[in-house]
Amino acid sequence: MIPFSPPRIDEKTIQAVTDALRSGWITTGPRTKEFEKRLAAYCGVQRVIALNSWTNAAELALRWYGIGPGDEVIVPAYTYCATANIVKHVGAKPVLVDVLDDFTINPEAVRQAMNPRTKAIIPVDIGGLPARVAEIVKVAEDSCAWFSPAVNLRVGGSNPQMRLGRALVLSDAAHSFGARIGGKSIGPQADITGFSFHAVKNLTTAEGGALAFQLPAPFDTEEVYRWFNTMSLHGQNKDALAKTKPGAWRYDVEAPGWKCNMTDIQAAIGLVELDRYDSETLPRRKAICERYHAGFAQEAALDRPLLKDAHREGSYHLYMLRVAKATEEQRDAIIAAISAREVSVNVHFIPLPLLSHYRNTGYRMEDYPNAYKHYSREISLPVYYDLSDEQVDTVIAAVKEAVHAVMG
Ligand SMILES: Cc1ncc(COP(=O)(O)O)c(C=O)c1O
Repeated sequence: MIPFSPPRIDEKTIQAVTDALRSGWITTGPRTKEFEKRLAAYCGVQRVIALNSWTNAAELALRWYGIGPGDEVIVPAYTYCATANIVKHVGAKPVLVDVLDDFTINPEAVRQAMNPRTKAIIPVDIGGLPARVAEIVKVAEDSCAWFSPAVNLRVGGSNPQMRLGRALVLSDAAHSFGARIGGKSIGPQADITGFSFHAVKNLTTAEGGALAFQLPAPFDTEEVYRWFNTMSLHGQNKDALAKTKPGAWRYDVEAPGWKCNMTDIQAAIGLVELDRYDSETLPRRKAICERYHAGFAQEAALDRPLLKDAHREGSYHLYMLRVAKATEEQRDAIIAAISAREVSVNVHFIPLPLLSHYRNTGYRMEDYPNAYKHYSREISLPVYYDLSDEQVDTVIAAVKEAVHAVMG
């Protein structure tokens, strides 16, 4: 069986974890801080904080921006549930909008959904292809004229909604670490960019995530970083490492925070992954996607995913193939036929309005026709570092046979 997306674990990873375990320091410490610095340098952003998942990191960003009941956050209908769940966690309302043919959020639909209750927009770089973040930032900036900040908000001594004066652009870059816009690494384009380092992601720490900050003046990013650092540790003004200094046991709690810090064991894996990301991981993933592209080039029944265009290059996280004229039932039958050929595939993603909770709380699939169209035809193929060319060819053959068997 060809698996879908196993992580790359080799002797280097095992050695790095062993070193962390033997170092005597296994929770947040020097390796996490080093990982944050290296991530910030890689992305070219002001600051990065590494936390325990995209979900908890991005949720903390919504809390930092003071988003809560009565507020709205715009998210695409076509994404993983985490993007919208975090909006629910803080008591705000996810406002869903449709996607473009490349699966990314439609900036025009975002513009139409904006209103004085809109506090944030979360574009998603689905499959690793960057969303049109510059256009989304423009939409957010155009909201300056009528944006209505919460006046009584105080976060770490300031009111971030007053400071930014518009909807926050929080990019869901869970899939797209290492993707590029205009030749530059993603990160600096949005106010805050969130990465996931979950086990199936291009760069993994087993579980983990990070926020990259690129906030406009007059934000003090160091002050913002301190808030996230403190609030990821119960609002405690000293972390575990600081408390180990002789005599430094006393601490205070400034506000009831959360608990979502990254451990040094996770960071140890991340540092190995980052070291070889550009030299090994991305080139191999790109070569696999290009081999799929060539293998399906003559297949009129298949729509190949956009891997790059004049402005963007994806991170080659997912190869999101579509069967052009398939119904949802035909797509499902094709997946069954591929699986019978010992190849694991997946579907990214079931649009939110098809999930019980979202359907039962009033979201209707008919309102997002493009999301449904693309979902119903989509099949994600295996992409991972250890997948060999021969295995890619096996996948290509299995897909072609399955498609011809079902579609004729
Ligand atoms: C688009 C998207 N956003 C967010 C997440 C959540 O990431 P994490 O598992 O690190 O919380 C995922 C995870 O798969 C995802 O696919």
